Amino acid sequence: MAERRTGVKKSEPRTSPAHFRNKHLLSIGDLDRFEVENLLDRAEAFAPLLEQPIKKLDTLRGRTLINLFFESSTRTQSSFELAGKRMGADVVNMSVKSSSVAKGETLIDTAATLNAMRADLLVVRHGASGAAELLARKVDCAVINAGDGKHEHPTQALLDAFTIRSRLGQIEGLTIAICGDVLHSRVARSNVSLLNLMGARVRLVGPPTLMPIGADRWGAEVFHDMRKGIGGADVVMMLRVQRERMAGGFFPSAREFFWFYGLDEDKLKHAKPGALVMHPGPMNRGVEIDSSVADNPSVSLIETQVRMGVAVRMAVLEALANGGASEGAR
Ligand code: NCD
Repeated sequence: MAERRTGVKKSEPRTSPAHFRNKHLLSIGDLDRFEVENLLDRAEAFAPLLEQPIKKLDTLRGRTLINLFFESSTRTQSSFELAGKRMGADVVNMSVKSSSVAKGETLIDTAATLNAMRADLLVVRHGASGAAELLARKVDCAVINAGDGKHEHPTQALLDAFTIRSRLGQIEGLTIAICGDVLHSRVARSNVSLLNLMGARVRLVGPPTLMPIGADRWGAEVFHDMRKGIGGADVVMMLRVQRERMAGGFFPSAREFFWFYGLDEDKLKHAKPGALVMHPGPMNRGVEIDSSVADNPSVSLIETQVRMGVAVRMAVLEALANGGASEGAR
């Protein structure tokens, strides 16, 4: 049908859409392993489309996606925007600085406004943990958490899992070290949950000041020595040092942090031969990661992560636009 209407030959992905039990995607806990596998299969079907000159499907034609970003973002916001457009949806980017929120509107008032606009999908990023969940309770549409404070960033973990699976074939049984500023990282929290769900062995590596209390009960082994922490790892996932969430000194200087925890070629030698390096971006070069590692295409998956992000988000938008099953939906 699509071919006749537009005259453009489109190769439709072969797998069927992923299906979620829950209406929203607020945390990795909303998903089970089967749902994740289906989602990654669907993303795999979308990925080749993104390499073609014409990258558009009409699966979400007539649907409206609102991107509501209270924290600045380059890659996540543009990734959702592209994913929405490539699925054929109308995408609205609400610039929070120029919106009524700057004039004192509460999150609840914003939710009522968005509801009146009859959006189908709402992608939200906010500095407060739990903000996405609060909005989800107040709006009728499906909500996707694109990062809430230090809490969760589920689509980042899904795109990381997709990147690992695409490169190494599977996640089960791999040793994955997540390193650096774990304390302030929603990426780390979502990744620990998802990688555990998929059967990986997860390690958390960082200074005691940047390791959350109780991290050893997250289902990960905690290390404070970088070389030991990444020893024999298949994947080394670096985290950004999040200065904007730090009040006071969590480490003496960037130079010292790099000396102990910055990933360079020398430290990487302790990981498994051929180990791969990831970073969600944006990177602090020379603080948590050295350019010699970040820009080395034979070890770095950082650009691939960005590319995979669009395909994963297309699969997420499709699954949520189809609606959660009534049983267990929330
Ligand atoms: C992450 C985020 O915002 O949580 N970035 C991203 O989504 N690409 C990580 C970070 O900001 O350090």
